[in-house]
Amino acid sequence: MHLLLLATLLVPGLRAHEEQEPDLSEMSGKWFTIALASNNSALVAPGGHFRVFLDTLDVKDGNVHGNILVPEDGRCKTLSLVAFKTDKNEQYQFSLQFWGHNEMDIVEVEPGEALAFILNNKYQDKTSLVAALAVRTLPAKKDSLDTFEHLCEDLGLHKEQIVLLDHTDHCQKSQD
Ligand SMILES: *[C@@H]1O[C@H](CO)[C@@H](O)[C@H](O)[C@H]1NC(C)=O
Repeated sequence: MHLLLLATLLVPGLRAHEEQEPDLSEMSGKWFTIALASNNSALVAPGGHFRVFLDTLDVKDGNVHGNILVPEDGRCKTLSLVAFKTDKNEQYQFSLQFWGHNEMDIVEVEPGEALAFILNNKYQDKTSLVAALAVRTLPAKKDSLDTFEHLCEDLGLHKEQIVLLDHTDHCQKSQD
């Protein structure tokens, strides 16, 4: 998959960052997930395996350690995950075990402000595309959402496959 390259070439807003290597250390800290998208809608629907909220990221040795909040029985369970940097040609590809195996790309939607995670999920024999938009501060800027929408479009995800998450959701609020 060359999703990052594709995104870089196709999303006008990202073109400016094409040459500069995004700074991984800037990814550490608190994030809020505000949108999800998938071509397998059950994954991002309420109760879906990817209906989860990013809490914090920490970059160590180029690998991305993350805590996510998973709604479960009306509560929020914290789950720690590690996305390992892969040796592939692309700088930003990661390998992540979560509901099967994921190849993950991270795209800087807005430097320091908004990140998109693009996952190619393989669970048993099924491949699905999942994208998530995370921002530093709430409410999210409309520009970040617009750029995410274009990014999704370029990946073949339609507007109606994007789910906006309510930032009053208790799994977002309990993070404060
Ligand atoms: C979703 O996208 C992935 C990656 O492009 C593709 O392999 C898969 O067949 C798609 N699934 C559906 C249901 O369109």
